[in-house]
Amino acid sequence: MQNHYRNPLLRMAPDYAFSGDIHWQSPSNIAIVKYWGKHGQQLPRNASISFTLQAAYTETELSYSPRTQEGGDIALDFYFEGQAQPAFAQKINKFLSELAASEIMPFLTQFQLSIHSSNSFPHSAGIASSASSMSALALCLCTMEQELFGTLNSPAEFFRKASYLARLGSGSACRSLYPVMGEWGTLEKLAGSTDLWASPCADWVHPVFHTYHDDILIVSKGEKSVSSRAGHQLMEGNPYAAARYQQANDNMAKLVDVLKAGDVHAFGEIAELEALTLHALMMSSQPPYLLMKPNSLAMIEKIREYRNDTNQPLYFTLDAGPNLHLLYPAEIAEQVAPFIESELLPLCEEGKMIRDRVGNGPIKFS
Ligand code: PMV
Repeated sequence: MQNHYRNPLLRMAPDYAFSGDIHWQSPSNIAIVKYWGKHGQQLPRNASISFTLQAAYTETELSYSPRTQEGGDIALDFYFEGQAQPAFAQKINKFLSELAASEIMPFLTQFQLSIHSSNSFPHSAGIASSASSMSALALCLCTMEQELFGTLNSPAEFFRKASYLARLGSGSACRSLYPVMGEWGTLEKLAGSTDLWASPCADWVHPVFHTYHDDILIVSKGEKSVSSRAGHQLMEGNPYAAARYQQANDNMAKLVDVLKAGDVHAFGEIAELEALTLHALMMSSQPPYLLMKPNSLAMIEKIREYRNDTNQPLYFTLDAGPNLHLLYPAEIAEQVAPFIESELLPLCEEGKMIRDRVGNGPIKFS
């Protein structure tokens, strides 16, 4: 694990007796410029930016108490939606072990840890649960560090470290820490941007984007046929990789101006180009993956027709799956509702859609 935050001093003195209960809610996000391709330890090949969602979130409660006998390992009980979940528990255990071993959080082996986690949205809805769950866990861990050592006093430093940890857990999770939008990756145009953690954008993003809706049209609830881990890996052999990374950084540079100006059509054009490029990259990987379904294409055609007829800024993006995310500003919500209802909803599996919108970022309960 990288050691930007390596700090061997973050260990409790003998006979410590601290315990605590921490509770965070953290949202998922949907990328507009996509992160697809990585190197080293979750370092992105290109810059990316996402909307922070509101309704799709993970709630995580972390309890810690002194361990009677410290082992070199992590002592963890993990429950997902009230049930023991060995597969998730193993993943979290590995993540925490790496944080301890790399001395980013060496104190983790000194405590008995218990984690309860639950999602506000169904599995396989095309919503990145790794983004919300890893960001919620990272926030709990940073609160624990702050309670024990008082090392993360300023909010900027607190969220920066949480974003760093979330990135190590699942790359795109690092962008979920901030209200409205999060950007990640080194971009000349944005002072302070870095591959190590994501940065907030709400201050410079035009108010119209703070109002955006994201209606998730469930084309298929099936499991993803390619995990994002495998997808990133496939970029290493993709013949278009270098051109893609350049294109993504160029799209980011353009999008920053568009987001500042509030140009909803230019925004939508970049969003759709990015979504279709992500899928084109998967179609040109070895082996090639086709993740859209016939109804994804049928919806795209309908959205484009609707736009031609009305000139309303109704656009879509896609994650690495068949479900469409419909993006539009609140000011046209009433006008587009009948079209969504009559033309798009019938193409959804079991007529299912999840309504979400741009949100205000994580919430701390205790
Ligand atoms: O964070 P990961 O490794 O699950 O990758 C996420 C990749 C995409 O969701 C397809 C794009 C993105 O930028 O979120």
